Amino acid sequence: MAIKEVLKMGDKRLLTRAREVASFGTPELRALLQDMRDTMQALDGAGLAAPQIGAGLRVVIFGVGRNPRYPDAEEVPQTVLINPVITPLSDATEEDWEGCLSVPGLRGLVPRYAHLRYRGSDERGAPIDRTVSGFHARVVQHECDHLEGILYPMRVRDLRNLGYTEVLFPAGAERDE
Ligand code: NI
Repeated sequence: MAIKEVLKMGDKRLLTRAREVASFGTPELRALLQDMRDTMQALDGAGLAAPQIGAGLRVVIFGVGRNPRYPDAEEVPQTVLINPVITPLSDATEEDWEGCLSVPGLRGLVPRYAHLRYRGSDERGAPIDRTVSGFHARVVQHECDHLEGILYPMRVRDLRNLGYTEVLFPAGAERDE
């Protein structure tokens, strides 16, 4: 299909609540997902939400494979998640650095729930129900925020903890979501 342009912060379409997907297995949904995969892959992202390519639907994809350069980095399975619902499993939060393909070049320290359950559907409408923590939970929360029109800088508690990736992480190779 196609590598799409990723909308950048400032575009009002990133601040809108996305609509539920009503029918599964349609050519339109298949084409959207292929565009999302192509775009995420081309930009080496960890995740992408449909609104980031201008589609106001409750569709996110994410996944982080093994990287020999970061043997300690947590793996996250390649996932298509549609109409997601997140339920935090405790009040515990943890802060970590995030980046976003819609906010290129920047990183911010963002608090997220440490443990949660997420449910939704895959592209064929089959249910997904997972209980996750840590980085996996962080990626899901970041992507699902996009469906509510929330970008991670809106969640940074102290704007002194928002900066340029090349300054914060001179060793490089951080992934955006
Ligand atoms: Ni993002």
